Amino acid sequence: EFHLHPKEVAFASDGAFGKFDKQQLQRGFQVYKEVCSACHSLNHVAFRDLAQLGYSEGQVKAIAAGFQVPGVDPTTGEANLRPGLPTDYFPKPFANDVAARAANNNAVPPDLSLMTKARHEGPAYVYSLLTGFQAQPAELLKKFPDSKTPNGLHYNPYFANLNLAMAPPLTGDGQVEYGPGNPKPTVDQMSKDVSAFLIWTAEPSLDKRKQTGLAVTLFLLFATVLGYMAYRNIWAGKK
Ligand code: HEM
Repeated sequence: EFHLHPKEVAFASDGAFGKFDKQQLQRGFQVYKEVCSACHSLNHVAFRDLAQLGYSEGQVKAIAAGFQVPGVDPTTGEANLRPGLPTDYFPKPFANDVAARAANNNAVPPDLSLMTKARHEGPAYVYSLLTGFQAQPAELLKKFPDSKTPNGLHYNPYFANLNLAMAPPLTGDGQVEYGPGNPKPTVDQMSKDVSAFLIWTAEPSLDKRKQTGLAVTLFLLFATVLGYMAYRNIWAGKK
C-alpha cells in the first residue's frame, strides 16, 4: 500500500501515431550527459547514434570527445583512457562494480539503455522515480516501526522496495540550462525530457516501427476491400 503505481504522464512517442519530439530528446540527452552520466552508463548507445536526434557530424564528434573511453596505448599496448570517437559507445562511469559500489552506498547504478523497457510502464516509472523522492510517510513508520529509511538510502514510493541508494539527482529548477526556444528546465520538465530520451535509447527505431505498422495496416485494409470486390465480381452472375 506504500508502493505506488507510476504517475500518469504523456510522451510525444505514445500511441499508434506517436513520434519522437527531437527537441525534447536533445534536452533529455543534455540532462543525461550533465547529470545521470556521472553514475549511469548507456552501453547500447554509440555517440554516432546521436545524429538521429538532429546533431550534426561536428556536434557528434565534439560530444564523443568530451567522454573518456577505454583504449590502448598504441606504443606500449597498455590499457588507457582516450577521448571518445563517434563509433564508441557511452562508457561506464566507474572502473568496475567495486568502485561503483564504493561510491554509491553499496549499490551499482544500472545501465540506463534499456531501463524504459525493463520496468513496468518504464517511461512513466523513470519520470515518477525522478519526481517522487519525499519524506517517509508517518503512517508507514507507525505501522512498521522498523522500516525507517537507513542512513545513505532515500525514500521513494515508486521504487519497489521503497528505499534506494540513488540520492535525488534532479533537485532544483534550472539545474541544466536549456537553450532559447525550450521550456523552462523545471525538475518536472527535466525528468520528463530525460525519460523521453530513455525511450529513444531503448528503441531508437520506434518512429520507423510505427510508420511501417501504419503503412502495413493501410495496405491490408486496401487488400481486403480489393479481395471483397474481386469476390463479388467473380460470383456476380451466379445464384
Ligand atoms: C538507480 C535513473 C542519476 C545513482 C537508478 C534507476 C533509474 C535511475 C531509472 C533504477 C531504479 C530501479 O532499479 O528500478 C537515473 C537518472 C538520472 C540518475 C534518469 C539522472 C537524471 C544518478 C546519479 C547517481 C545515481 C547522478 C549517482 C550519484 C544510482 C544508484 C542506483 C540508481 C546507486 C541504484 C539504486 C538502488 O538499487 O538502490 N537511477 N539516475 N543515479 N541510480 Fe540513478
